[in-house]
Amino acid sequence: MAEMVRKSSSDEIINHWIMALSCILLIISGYGFLFQIEGIGSLFGGFNAMKTVHNWLGVVFVLSLLYSMGHYFKDALEYDDDDRQWFKVAGGYLSHKVKVPPMGKYNPGQKLYYLAILAAGIAIALSGFAIWLIQDNAGLILLAHLVHNLAFCIFIIAVPVHIYLGTLANPGTFQIMVNGMVPLELARKRYPKWMKAAGKM
Ligand code: HEM
Repeated sequence: MAEMVRKSSSDEIINHWIMALSCILLIISGYGFLFQIEGIGSLFGGFNAMKTVHNWLGVVFVLSLLYSMGHYFKDALEYDDDDRQWFKVAGGYLSHKVKVPPMGKYNPGQKLYYLAILAAGIAIALSGFAIWLIQDNAGLILLAHLVHNLAFCIFIIAVPVHIYLGTLANPGTFQIMVNGMVPLELARKRYPKWMKAAGKM
């Protein structure tokens, strides 16, 4: 059997699924509210029930998002020369002719994805709680709706791209979010600097 290396810990995997499932249900129910889609409302037992589910899923999502900072925040803030070069060649996604520099545990696209989800997640949660809990300040509620909808636009673009990159586009990656493991050979190819630091090159 191929030798494996651990990329994700079990608490990271569990938290990722809590974050992912709550986020996807929030996106579906939020979409239902935005366009008043009866079919989506009835999936949740009507619009009133969907509102309660949406509000509390927001609490679950933001707690898991804050918890995820312990997993990804430090890495997401560190960029070296290879990362800067990665941006110049767009990660090799636009052409097979460019040379993609060697990467560490996460590539800059993943780091920026994390920071975008964190910023948009905090904005959507704060504005959501304002809409939920504040009743007597029309100006603030209007602003909260604007922020909530703008942050929603980020999620509806970033999350499907992330799911595609974590599954079909990069075979072998999805397993990381199931059992945390990645084949050593694949890890050496994709994250050579991380493997070198771990003494596995
Ligand atoms: C259900 C669909 C999803 C799948 C299949 C999926 C898949 C994955 C995979 C395979 C990784 C590991 C990548 C690696 O270590 O190289 C990952 C990481 C991550 N996922 Fe997801 N994910 C999903 C949904 C979500 C959602 C909805 C969010 C956030 C709202 C999210 C946030 C993250 C973050 C922050 C990371 C770590 C940093 C990164 O790799 O960008 N995921 N995901």
